[in-house]
Amino acid sequence: MSEYINPDYVPEPEKVNTKKGLEGAVIDTSSVSKVNPDTNSLIYRGYPVQELAENCKFEEVAYLMYHGELPNKAQLTEFEKLERSYRDITKANLEVIRLLPKKCHPMDSIRTGVSFFGTEDERIWDAKPATNLDKAVRLLAKIPTMVAADFRFKKGLDFIPPNKDLSIAENFFHMCFGKVPQAEIVKAFDVSLTLYAEHSFNASTFTSRVVTSTESDIYSATVAGIGALKGPLHGGANEMVMHMMKEINDPAIAEKWMLDALAAKKKVMGFGHRVYKKGDSRVPTMKKYAQKMADLTGQQKWMQIYESLEKVMAEKKKIYPNLDFPAGPAYYMMGFEIDFFTPIFVMARTTGWSAHIMEQAANNRIIRPLSEYIGAPQRSVKPLAERN
Ligand code: COA
Repeated sequence: MSEYINPDYVPEPEKVNTKKGLEGAVIDTSSVSKVNPDTNSLIYRGYPVQELAENCKFEEVAYLMYHGELPNKAQLTEFEKLERSYRDITKANLEVIRLLPKKCHPMDSIRTGVSFFGTEDERIWDAKPATNLDKAVRLLAKIPTMVAADFRFKKGLDFIPPNKDLSIAENFFHMCFGKVPQAEIVKAFDVSLTLYAEHSFNASTFTSRVVTSTESDIYSATVAGIGALKGPLHGGANEMVMHMMKEINDPAIAEKWMLDALAAKKKVMGFGHRVYKKGDSRVPTMKKYAQKMADLTGQQKWMQIYESLEKVMAEKKKIYPNLDFPAGPAYYMMGFEIDFFTPIFVMARTTGWSAHIMEQAANNRIIRPLSEYIGAPQRSVKPLAERN
């Protein structure tokens, strides 16, 4: 019934003055990041993402997101101290995550966990810049604790409390596995957080800005962002990539698998992008670190499948991998369960969302576009007894 179109509707397509999916529409200004598809570049507050990934730890990038500038040594020390002091979650918050159905997707767990955390904050309606900044740092600190708790509970294991002597990346491994792996693995994970931190007006960020524009709170906006990120056309793609690679499993059949998928007009996960049409600026860096994970763990077959799929897609369709394509196998080789890949993305993207939420709040007007109505023409309600 939702397909119903008024047969008397006189098409006036010119009334819809944006392309489907808001393609190409510039919605507002932003000083957080810029995607430049012509030069395959992405800058966070002016800094190329590749330089940030190689030279800064994720905490520095988070600070950059919130404050607009990279921290100096003293500022970083203070910021890290604050973030570490916020890592614990309440017993009630932990219990909410523990009580969720074991089979629920970890994105639903983190969505619920953040939502519950919002109810615990008595300053929920206080959206002053300083308060929102403090809430953003709390989200940055607590989301990994919630994700790791869910990771443990789903395996029937006990919760491991955060270790405040460790970086965000190290601490996440500690809370999931009870140990911190070798430095190369931590670095690859840290790089992935930086690459996932921010990407202008993507679907989840735009969603969180829409929620903020109603003068709702930062937690509601973050929960809405998580909901948007879960979908396989957005963040959920990093999980789908690994399911696909596992289905292929043998590099020798990867080429044929891709040719068959294209012949069947299937959407292949981890390829394509609304903005980048010549390749995703983040992919070379993440691919390099995924290859390092393969070298370290001896799991070359995922990178062989990667190369094969990438080659055929480029030759046949001129469509290139997006960040989810190398991130999926990289996380798998680090030892994470596949359905935790998108919650890891949340741990990173909370920084971008918060930056946008604060930017929207600072210069707000409610986001309220129009639609062209094509449904039933106006009619009168018949009494129930007279309806067919
Ligand atoms: N596999 C196969 N074909 C693809 C494709 C993919 N992953 N991505 C795009 N295409 C094709 C489309 O079928 C379309 O072909 P057509 O013109 O012959 O119909 C053409 O490329 C244009 O794609 P379009 O659907 O207009 O792109 P979009 O901007 O609406 O969507 C994505 C962008 C990211 C949603 C889309 O590329 C996609 O679904 N990718 C897979 C999911 C994914 O990896 N998401 C993570 C994004 S970071």
